[in-house]
Amino acid sequence: MTMDKKKYDEALADFSISDEELQQIAADFEAEMQAGLSGKDATLRMLRSYAALPTGKEIGDFLALDFGGTNVRVLHILLHGNGRYEVVKKTAKPLTEPGVYDYICAEATAEEMFDFLAELIDETIDSVRSTTFLLGHTFSFPSMQTDLYNARLITWTKEFATQGVEGQVVNDLLKEALARRGARNVIPVAVINDTVATLLAAAYKKPNAYIGSIYATGQNTCYFEEFADGSEPPTVINMESGGFGKLRPTKYDERIDETSEKPGAQRMEKMVSGRYLGEIYGHALADILGRDKPFSFTSIDLSAIVADAYLDRHEAAAILEKKTGEKFNALELNLLQNLAGVIIARSARFVAATFAGIVRHRANGAAIKEQHIAIDGSVYEKMPLVAENLKKALDALLGDDAAKIHIFLENTGSALGAALAAAVSAAR
Ligand code: GLC
Repeated sequence: MTMDKKKYDEALADFSISDEELQQIAADFEAEMQAGLSGKDATLRMLRSYAALPTGKEIGDFLALDFGGTNVRVLHILLHGNGRYEVVKKTAKPLTEPGVYDYICAEATAEEMFDFLAELIDETIDSVRSTTFLLGHTFSFPSMQTDLYNARLITWTKEFATQGVEGQVVNDLLKEALARRGARNVIPVAVINDTVATLLAAAYKKPNAYIGSIYATGQNTCYFEEFADGSEPPTVINMESGGFGKLRPTKYDERIDETSEKPGAQRMEKMVSGRYLGEIYGHALADILGRDKPFSFTSIDLSAIVADAYLDRHEAAAILEKKTGEKFNALELNLLQNLAGVIIARSARFVAATFAGIVRHRANGAAIKEQHIAIDGSVYEKMPLVAENLKKALDALLGDDAAKIHIFLENTGSALGAALAAAVSAAR
């Protein structure tokens, strides 16, 4: 095995982000927020959600469709108010089953995809036709909204490529599919992004929650914007922060971007989210081992490599051997584990910098207040080193103020938030 130590050192240095660089990123992010909000050219879309924070009084019987990753879920939820709710029934299916079906590839059509969603909804209500069900839809892609119902997909992200959905009002596509199934008694009434759903769910349960974030297949954050100048009514803003374009990419990030479905788009997401973290490692490792083609690591492989605490690192060794065909000695295994750790830490540090930017923007020059940040997603929840690096980076960025920022896991958000949005919409 020939490992190029010089290339390794360069890669490690390139993936490392100093505290100074981090502060600059937070400042750049805050500036981009401001530019995006005022309609100037910016890499943050700052999309209005038309959702307000819940009051805690939301009650009733709703369906929630959670659509935005490889798994689709439909839940029948009873809201009892004051943060309390009950799941009556839940169904879930992947959008792609290798060798069987694939609704997210470029060959799939909107009709096929939405018929699949309608079928899952129908299964959740046991094909009952005699009751009317109001449905909240968590649709986790950049959408241009004119109100809580009307959300038009701007562009797919996360390597989704289904034809005929971009530019369409997604709930119209869903309504048509429900009608084709004869399930006209299911009425889609609201669409929200998953970040918004996470924030609504958090605010239903806790005071002082103004920031909601997803750290999973994709990465994105929303926050409650009060428009201090009174120019617009307060609302939750879906920033589409995965599109933030002011980070310093390594040559590996450049390669991933070039070969992705949408080169140039979602530059931050391609450096931090679960969809790409394994790929980044695969590119770096191929370079260090002198190969032309990247190895195919997933973020689950990456987690397993860094989680291996055995002295001989035999678990990491097994994964690395399977993917590269190479055997590594103990010293090399340590280095390769370290590389995985630095890629993960970079991701968490970037995300922390965006949080610091939002917290400062919200404080608007005044003192930073005690608050909660709600995060959902497998990368935050399950990937080793992520939560601790996020916290450490926030400490470095905000100093004493970091103690006022309480990050917590809100992993019921996507569904609960959709039901809350449906409840708010029904009450209007
Ligand atoms: C992608 C989507 C965004 C979503 C995020 C997390 O960034 O563009 O809308 O919130 O993934 O699912």
